[in-house]
Amino acid sequence: MADFEAVAVRAIAANSTWPLRAAVLWPEKEAGPSCLIEGDEAPETLHMGAFVAEELCAIGTFMQQQHPELPSGVSYRLRAMGTLKSAQGKGLGSQLVETGLDILSERGCDVVWCDARHVALGFYARLGWDVVGPSYQVPLRGPHRLAWRRI
Ligand SMILES: CC(C)(COP(=O)(O)OP(=O)(O)OC[C@H]1O[C@@H](n2cnc3c(N)ncnc32)[C@H](O)[C@@H]1OP(=O)(O)O)[C@@H](O)C(=O)NCCC(=O)NCCS
Repeated sequence: MADFEAVAVRAIAANSTWPLRAAVLWPEKEAGPSCLIEGDEAPETLHMGAFVAEELCAIGTFMQQQHPELPSGVSYRLRAMGTLKSAQGKGLGSQLVETGLDILSERGCDVVWCDARHVALGFYARLGWDVVGPSYQVPLRGPHRLAWRRI
């Protein structure tokens, strides 16, 4: 995983996200169907992967979903965003999100949002997302805040 120049970001299948979902985000889970989330198989859902030398190193899933407190329009929610620990801080997550937003923009998406873990708030802020509202607890995952941006 030495050559971080050679990053490829592309859409992937839902079940390709399972190993990284388990490894990076949900350590109590096995890499398998328990990593499925509602909406994964919806036709509008976009699963993105960032590869280094054909190894999948970062994932993120965009699902069409309106947030009740955000402007209405075509909205997507980013879920299960994660980069392998050994590959963090090298630009993979940001390239994945930016490529995903380019695709969503072509689909007429206006707004993208996520429930952001406190430990990741700086990542979203660095990408120009607004972090708003109070903190809330998500069971098993800890404190979160709403992060969003217009496209
Ligand atoms: C948050 C996460 C997805 C970021 O992915 P990444 O591939 O490491 O991010 P990048 O290398 O593209 O970072 C982009 C920018 O955000 C910054 N950044 C990344 N993670 C950050 C964090 N946790 N806090 C503050 N800033 C962060 C980077 O320093 C970089 O800034 P720079 O351009 O000034 O150098 C990754 O750290 C991760 O998987 N964490 C564990 C799981 C998690 O918390 N997921 C988010 C759930 S909401």
